Amino acid sequence: MIRINEHYRKLKSSYLFSDIAKRVAAFQGAHPETEVIKLGIGDVTLPLPPACLEAFHRAVDDMGREETFRGYGPEQGYPFLREKIAEHDFTARGAAIDASEVFISDGAKCDTGNFQELFADDIRVAIPDPVYPVYLDTNVMAGRTGEAEAGRYAGITYLPSTAENGFIPELPAEPVDLIYLCFPNNPTGATIDRDRLKLWVDYARANQALILFDAAYEVFIRDDTLPHSIFEIEGAREVAVEFRSLSKTAGFTGTRCAFTVVPKECTAYTADGEPISVHALWHRRHTTKFNGVSYPVQRAAAAIFTEAGRVQVKERIDYYLANAAIIRQAVKDLGYSCVGGVNSPYIWVDGKADSWAFFDLLLNRAGVVCTPGAGFGPCGEGYIRISAFNSRRNVEHAMERMTRALGG
Ligand code: MLT
Repeated sequence: MIRINEHYRKLKSSYLFSDIAKRVAAFQGAHPETEVIKLGIGDVTLPLPPACLEAFHRAVDDMGREETFRGYGPEQGYPFLREKIAEHDFTARGAAIDASEVFISDGAKCDTGNFQELFADDIRVAIPDPVYPVYLDTNVMAGRTGEAEAGRYAGITYLPSTAENGFIPELPAEPVDLIYLCFPNNPTGATIDRDRLKLWVDYARANQALILFDAAYEVFIRDDTLPHSIFEIEGAREVAVEFRSLSKTAGFTGTRCAFTVVPKECTAYTADGEPISVHALWHRRHTTKFNGVSYPVQRAAAAIFTEAGRVQVKERIDYYLANAAIIRQAVKDLGYSCVGGVNSPYIWVDGKADSWAFFDLLLNRAGVVCTPGAGFGPCGEGYIRISAFNSRRNVEHAMERMTRALGG
């Protein structure tokens, strides 16, 4: 008899964004006359930067000629891309990362979800609340938790991110082994400064723990005092892994390209305390389970580091940040408090109401889709997340409709 992984039964029946998509489809079915504006899932709307597109086209043509055709590429990615990433995203910022420490992949979602499989079943995992659901759900699937009660799984150390702590979690009160952090944060849009991040690095060093640092939104940082990478913090190379994505950076949500940085010194331990290279483990996993991102996509990705590519990426991020400023203003004018939307594409709004009820209200009265905060964890209850990823016209319309529906 084929039996299932019983841990899957502990999960909610569907993934947050699938659940929202179903509700939106039902609404659209019932109200075909309403033009729904989606500020829910963070999906980019601007097309690929022209520099990427040109490189993409050229590489597709390469695939059509025998002399330039490529078959399997290196599983970890082509050196032409890994070298550019190491140079521009890390070394230029004072974070010494070698190209051999960069693993190209098809998404930060997959990498943040898969990375936990390198570690023992009985480690203690610390996860922020609210949180991007992938970190939690993949640990549930792996059997590291008990059942959920009131939205919290037994066996997980939750790190509340609330208005009281400025949406930056405190260090855990109990010892933990694996820590997930995300800054600029999804969903709250909060950022972390060097001193606060250093506290986490020091904690990990003191406790032989490992930090999985999701920096998928680092390109939105405009405050020069904020770190873009955990590797800008002294001592992080031994205790941290970083995830980056081109999805939001350069519009690759549909094209798929991301990368994970695993320094050679990064260490985990056997049950007997023998140190093991996490880089070697991830390399083993990556080469076994992944065959690399397609050659044209990697060529397109490398083009973001050209002079034109860098200008075009900045223009795109400026555009979304200007959308975020419009959303922040509209929300504040309506009398709600919010964080994020500065150094981040997400605005985290204190809706002062049940977050799914607020989601339904916005959908029904304004035809606007947001993400209910409770979907990211119990500490998200009362909040909604509004995404700045849409056209200027749609963002302005959405805010006008919201103002009409909720104002007065
Ligand atoms: C989000 O809306 O939280 C993200 O777009 C989801 C993702 O990147 O997988």
